[in-house]
Amino acid sequence: MTALTASREALIALLRQICGDAHVLTHDDPATDLRPWEQDWRKRVHGRALAVVRPGNTAQVAAVVKACAAHHTPIVPQGGNTGLVVGGVPDGSGTQIVLSTTRMNAVRAVDPANLTITVEAGCVLQNLQAAAEAAGFLFPLSLGAEGSCTIGGNLGTNAGGTQVVRYGNTRELCLGLEVVTAQGEIWHGLTGLRKDNTGYDLRNLMVGSEGTLGIITAATMKLYPLPAAQLTAWAAVPSMDAAVQLLGLAHQRLGPGLTGFEVMGQFALGLVDKHYPQLRVPLWQETPWCVLLENSDSESEQHARSQFEALLEAALEAGCVTDAVVAENLGQARSLWHIRESITLAQAEEGLNIKHDISIPVSRIPAFVAETDALLAREVPGVRMVDFGHLGDGNLHYNVQAPEGVDGKAFLQGNEERVNTLVFDQVAKFNGSISAEHGVGELKVGKLPLYKDPTALSMMRAVKKALDPHNLLNPGRVLG
Ligand code: FAD
Ligand code: MLT
Ligand code: ZN
Repeated sequence: MTALTASREALIALLRQICGDAHVLTHDDPATDLRPWEQDWRKRVHGRALAVVRPGNTAQVAAVVKACAAHHTPIVPQGGNTGLVVGGVPDGSGTQIVLSTTRMNAVRAVDPANLTITVEAGCVLQNLQAAAEAAGFLFPLSLGAEGSCTIGGNLGTNAGGTQVVRYGNTRELCLGLEVVTAQGEIWHGLTGLRKDNTGYDLRNLMVGSEGTLGIITAATMKLYPLPAAQLTAWAAVPSMDAAVQLLGLAHQRLGPGLTGFEVMGQFALGLVDKHYPQLRVPLWQETPWCVLLENSDSESEQHARSQFEALLEAALEAGCVTDAVVAENLGQARSLWHIRESITLAQAEEGLNIKHDISIPVSRIPAFVAETDALLAREVPGVRMVDFGHLGDGNLHYNVQAPEGVDGKAFLQGNEERVNTLVFDQVAKFNGSISAEHGVGELKVGKLPLYKDPTALSMMRAVKKALDPHNLLNPGRVLG
């Protein structure tokens, strides 16, 4: 037995002692399939883990980190493994531990007077939403992966989703964290305080750090009153300019009632129609863009409906909407949202594609899209734009699909780098960000030095070195 194998065996034995045999999975057992933890959601990368470890509580996470640190073994934290930038799966070396939080899924407490809920990191987002609702409150974070993603992963990526226009990103919803550091110490930061100026904001440093600075084990999140009514409308708009004009009108007329504003291009909706015809996408054939709007009202459904109707009438008059439907009931509203949330899946059905998750000041989005569409059409003829996203936040998923009949994998091999450069250079020109909500992961790590302010990047490196000097937490992600 080599020294390396002996060290590996000793670590596995230690991890089994900490978490129990059933919660340390390795390739040694041929009956165990580690693929669900090793393969990323988009199937871009298939890593190989030394082991998948599933601690059941914070003390076990701390002990696992200490054991891994003693054996110089890197750890990749993982929640629901729905991340889109290859941040939560191991590399191919077979030397990294995947620390899966999914057993740590309890709701620890609801504090109605403080309007907070405290949950463990592995709590699935949908279960967190349900727990909030059962207590009579709204937890507004909402995204297509909510049936499988965890709050730890949402915090790790600072996920956005479809309600950011009103409630902000996951960061804005977080009032406290419990974190295991790279040294295996526990930071007890579940304060639930709305005001705390006692020094550096470590909570905000951890949120969005993609598992590279610490392992989030629990979080205290904000709750909101449940709206009295929530109405959804689907509008056909003639151009991106018109969509931005409609957004302005919606802000004006609905104020804080505007809780969702999503734009969807014709080709993106065509993919949903092609792969999920049973969803019956409205209006898409007659217009280049559709917009999904949500109005949450604290008064009544009647009030919400009349506000919505007045908005749509004004928009029709101004010419920024050509046709619209307002959902009659919750079932219809859910169906409309389901269409929007199915774009990612329809796109995956269509084949590999080049995904972008960019943000630009809203006012400049029409010019960005017009210019960049023309540039791509010229430089990479035949590409199909799967364009959709959170227009209310200035965040577009400006995705590029292979030309008709061209294999996605072959297209990516020959074009991904060039297409990324064309799009990211445009994003830089328009003062935008190359990652609005999905994070950096491994996928964009090489791009950061090209598009991030160099001083910001060197401060990020200094923080990483201070908190994780041996580079044990998710190495190679965010910072190369
Ligand atoms: P994972 O994929 O397991 O991990 C993601 C990252 O967080 C990794 O870097 C991982 O190391 C780190 N991490 C996980 N748990 C912890 C922890 N406890 N402590 C520290 N770090 C941790 N994103 C959006 O922002 N908006 C959307 O609208 C959106 N829609 C999506 C729709 C679909 C269909 C899919 C598949 C994904 C979507 N995403 C969206 C991507 C998004 O990042 C995630 O769904 C979610 O935030 C990740 O949660 P997860 O538990 O799956 O994390
Ligand atoms: C979304 O908005 O649906 C997501 O961020 C997922 C995606 O970009 O495909
Ligand atoms: Zn998104």
